[in-house]
Amino acid sequence: MSDRLVIAEIDLGAYEDNLQKIRSRLTSETKLMAVVKANAYGHGAIELAKAAERAGAAYLGVVCLYEARQLRDAGISLPILILNYIDHASALEAIDLDCDVTVMDEEVIRGVGNSGKKSRLHLKVDTGMHRAGADPAQILTLAQTIQSFPNLEFHGLFTHFANADDADLSFAKVQLNVFKKVVTELENNGIRPPLIHAANSAATLCLSESHFDMVRPGICTYGLTPFSQTHLQNSQFLQEFAPVLSLKTQIIRIHEIVPGETVGYGRTFKATRPTRVGLLPVGYADGFTRSPSNWGEVLVGGKRAPVIGRVSMDQSSIDLTDIPEAQTHDEVILLGEQMNEKITADDIAARVGTINYEVVTRLTSRISRVYKENV
Ligand SMILES: Cc1ncc(COP(=O)(O)O)c(C=O)c1O
Repeated sequence: MSDRLVIAEIDLGAYEDNLQKIRSRLTSETKLMAVVKANAYGHGAIELAKAAERAGAAYLGVVCLYEARQLRDAGISLPILILNYIDHASALEAIDLDCDVTVMDEEVIRGVGNSGKKSRLHLKVDTGMHRAGADPAQILTLAQTIQSFPNLEFHGLFTHFANADDADLSFAKVQLNVFKKVVTELENNGIRPPLIHAANSAATLCLSESHFDMVRPGICTYGLTPFSQTHLQNSQFLQEFAPVLSLKTQIIRIHEIVPGETVGYGRTFKATRPTRVGLLPVGYADGFTRSPSNWGEVLVGGKRAPVIGRVSMDQSSIDLTDIPEAQTHDEVILLGEQMNEKITADDIAARVGTINYEVVTRLTSRISRVYKENV
């Protein structure tokens, strides 16, 4: 059992509400896949998958066998799609776990086909992101290859958008048209898999023509925006969706230093006044970033306390000089709200030079996840 000095509090009620809000934008024919890859973007895959099932998700999206097995071992029975490339040996293990697998080349299709195992395959099309997926010109042949094996079911066709989070949706629409042409070509050849899907969070929210049979939102289900601050949809998003994760710790030591004394490795912080230093049991091994810049500030008693000196692997220091009322064991908010102040994943992303996705995804496994049920 962990010592629970650093806690990620996960509001399952908020997650289920976010999923319901997304579902309310879909027609009754469109299913929702809850994307719970990467430990549900750091939130904890097992608990979030269970909550997704309660909220009516039809599918779960993961990226590899390890993630699929974790869910099945926890007794989760919802359909699971492995969204990324998987080699045929791992695909066979995934199929034994009753998962759907993604294919994008002949080699894996034939490998799974020759195994004789009954399998549900989703073909991924590269419509312009130019990362994973098969070329649109190859899809008909690949689909026919799948159909040539009696044990293989061509269950899905999908693509992924490169910039549906952009205010300018013109490239997303180019991708959508390429995708629709592939769908039409298959239909003209009498082929129509039951699940055609394309939309990530941004497309789910802004491009309803991309909903098809299923949407695959990730980031927005966690109450984090897929949009930039300047995107018109952003403020509406922030009003509608609630962040699911708050990150908390506590002050474990308070001590005074005098002008000229320094704090931490490299002695990068030098006091210029009598300084009250608070010690936090959190460091970069928890995902509390050290460089190129750190979190910058945290909340103590509803006030902002600057992070001082270098963040260590497991500990960090803050300046409490201007918060004289702060005591050892007081709650410290690293992400989330305290009184009228808040620190969001987007604030941290802006400070450390990344995106909100990475801020939550890199919270490591030694942080205790504490789940708040819907009340
Ligand atoms: C194939 C696929 N679908 C859906 C998603 C969810 O994307 P988002 O978190 O932007 O909604 C991802 C995440 O990157 C993905 O790789």
